[in-house]
Amino acid sequence: MQNFDYRNPTHIVFGQDRLAELNNLVPADAKVLVLYGGGSVKRFGTLDKVLAGLGERQVVEFGGIEPNPQFDTLMKAVEMVRAEKIDFLLAVGGGSVMDGTKFIAAAAPYQGDEASLLKHGFAPPPIDGALPLGTVATLPATGSEMNMGAVVSYQGGKFPVMHPLLFPQFSFLDPSLTFSLPKVQVANGVVDAFVHTLEQYVTFPANGHIQDRTAEGILKTLIEVGPQTLAEPENYEARATLVWSATCALNGFIGVGVPQDWTTHMIGHELTALFGIDHGQSLAIIQPSVWKLRKTEKREKLLQYAERVWDITEGDEDQRIDQAIAKTRDFFESLGVKTRLSEYGVERGGIDKVVQALEAHGMVALSERGDLDLSVSRAILEDAY
Ligand code: NZQ
Ligand code: ZN
Repeated sequence: MQNFDYRNPTHIVFGQDRLAELNNLVPADAKVLVLYGGGSVKRFGTLDKVLAGLGERQVVEFGGIEPNPQFDTLMKAVEMVRAEKIDFLLAVGGGSVMDGTKFIAAAAPYQGDEASLLKHGFAPPPIDGALPLGTVATLPATGSEMNMGAVVSYQGGKFPVMHPLLFPQFSFLDPSLTFSLPKVQVANGVVDAFVHTLEQYVTFPANGHIQDRTAEGILKTLIEVGPQTLAEPENYEARATLVWSATCALNGFIGVGVPQDWTTHMIGHELTALFGIDHGQSLAIIQPSVWKLRKTEKREKLLQYAERVWDITEGDEDQRIDQAIAKTRDFFESLGVKTRLSEYGVERGGIDKVVQALEAHGMVALSERGDLDLSVSRAILEDAY
């Protein structure tokens, strides 16, 4: 196992009808900016419950954070934070609202060029403070509710921002707030959580036994509960299991001390930025082809995944790996998520644009070994078409 530090300070408040407890968690004298997306939290009553939970506090609202939050939109909120002297941010929504809020928390007190905060990749940007934030998560997918990462869209690209100051202080996870999700978003969420787990697991062996067994548990759970919660959206226990799976998939725990490979996400981000393909859908397109092109590098973990997650024991090694790839694709398809780039209305010539974007964004040495160059990315995209 590699050396690691692990600290996760987010207080999770899990369960139904707990929003009144906001009153205990937001400082009594805070001036709060409540941030949300395109209006689902208004339509389904979540915003009213949040405002009730905040009681007598001074509250300002900022709505309209779009999926794949745009830098320009978030900067409007930054101006509002500065003008209104806001001292606490409360995100009410999915990953886009939570991520956007994290960026605002970093950018509002920042003295320099805010766009420069997007240029540090997985390394922390040079901030020495951030506004405190909490979240009320309405979409199980990204894990943003319990991690220090955000992804911001800017000038045709998607850029991660990661800093320990951006962990939410608390996150409310009420599965019943997610009952109103359209099926496509639930399916996207299952795929996103599944691929987060895979990218910290299907690399090369590193004696991360706890991490591996936990990852396998999350994957098997998603395979069981994904179809169930799609079919029965108001089955509380099934949805609760999905919500907690998605959080556990990307709260850092399974990724400590082991190699990670974010290739699928990095290529997927370009598909979203260029063609507007949903985040979860972009991952379903890319993941099977990454494995097809990287069978040799990932051989041991792919075999472990085949046996422990899909119970595949018949056939020689290559056959078992091929079966595991096919099972994974079938799983995504069974959720209603298409797995071919051509099925999303993208012309074959679009592959050139993706490769150019990867190059422009410095994504030229991906994978757990840093040896996945643009020629392999192109081959992955060709295979995924
Ligand atoms: O905007 P509203 O009206 O709220 O509607 C949203 C949006 O249209 C809707 N929605 C959310 N909760 C709902 C609901 N509709 C009905 N009922 C509810 N309870 O769902 C739509 C999609 O929301 P969005 O927040 O965009 O989805 P998701 O949670 O999948 O977030 C995707 C974003 O997260 C980033 C992605 O890149 C993308 O920008 N990621 C963030 C990560 C992180 N912070 O760690 C990691 C991920 O890999 C991912 O990259
Ligand atoms: Zn993701």
